[in-house]
Amino acid sequence: MYTVPKRKSYSAAALDKAVEKLLAALKQEAAAAKNEADWKTFRDRWMARKNGVLTQINDLWLKAAPKDAKREVGQRVNSLKTKVEWQVENTQQEISQLGTLDKLVGPDEATFRKDVEQARRNRQSEAALDITLPGIPRPLGAEHPVIKTVHEIVSVFRNLGYSVQEGPVIETDYYNFEALNFPPNHPARDTQDTLFIARQEAKPQRERLLLRTHTSPVQIRTMEKMRPPVRIVIPGMVHRNDPPDASHSPMFHQIEGLAVDTNITFCDLKGTLDHAMKALFGSSVKTSFRPSFFPFTEPSAEMLVSCFICGGSGKRGSEPCRPCKQTGWIEILGCGMVDPNVYGFVNYDPKKVSGFAFGMGADRIAILKYGVDDIQLFFNGDVRFLEQFG
Ligand code: PHE
Repeated sequence: MYTVPKRKSYSAAALDKAVEKLLAALKQEAAAAKNEADWKTFRDRWMARKNGVLTQINDLWLKAAPKDAKREVGQRVNSLKTKVEWQVENTQQEISQLGTLDKLVGPDEATFRKDVEQARRNRQSEAALDITLPGIPRPLGAEHPVIKTVHEIVSVFRNLGYSVQEGPVIETDYYNFEALNFPPNHPARDTQDTLFIARQEAKPQRERLLLRTHTSPVQIRTMEKMRPPVRIVIPGMVHRNDPPDASHSPMFHQIEGLAVDTNITFCDLKGTLDHAMKALFGSSVKTSFRPSFFPFTEPSAEMLVSCFICGGSGKRGSEPCRPCKQTGWIEILGCGMVDPNVYGFVNYDPKKVSGFAFGMGADRIAILKYGVDDIQLFFNGDVRFLEQFG
């Protein structure tokens, strides 16, 4: 059994040799420890305050060293301490793994024991952790192109002083339709192919749950808890019963906007959206509005932007421009002045306040921005496609 020798020489060579001997003994004794009781003896022999090997080195090597050798000895003793502590801890871990072997049965046990022992040998051959080795690279993910687009659009409005609101994807009929001025059984509901949660016939209609077909219910939820002035954008996921194809997906993303204050006019709506489109697609795009219908806005409009792919000409060289179907214009969102009936649902006074709202499809905008020809590519998780946006 190893005993700590008294130092005769303090030369670097002699010290290194002594260190080597001590480490060899440490490894040998560690390998001999087979169970928890062995390990305790091993630990005490090396680490006990009173007369453990480490204490002895401290006394016999360091304290006894002449002044001019203290530095050399001190460094070695410190590194020995670390190595002994490391070895003691690892030996315990190995033993606790081996301990579980007793509970294992079947042909795998031998393989398992071999693996554990191999691991133990490997660890013993590593003198210490080599912190100069290069690290293990962890691949970083990237923002999904649709989410990236959502963030870009949101930041345009944040710069205008809008704040962000979110709401539930599973909504009640009340918020998705009724409070947005879609009366029960009104045909306007048919334009949004709604996915209802099954077996709710017993509930009153307004309480029935559905997957929200637009982000507009969050307009109501926000106005219920906030007094004007309101300036919010609402990004989120929506669902409609549309069979998937190159331009449809039963799940997609919208960004909604709402501004309510005193004296808000259609001019504010036009100015705000025109600015936003220039910020998103470049300062040379133009916007155009044509009449439309939504139950919760009056008047309502569809907004178009001049095609930023062909510059509004409808042609790319001699080829027809596909994204704008040769019209030079791309339909980008629905909007309008908040219908006074809506204020009735949230206790706002339509004689005192007015406002505008708009809603756009983020996926469609991402398709246009990145020139993607199939919306399905966004959602079927093919890394070869997605990593192009990293
Ligand atoms: N919610 C409408 C839709 O999904 C879009 C819209 C939002 C229209 C806000 C006007 C105002 O089609």
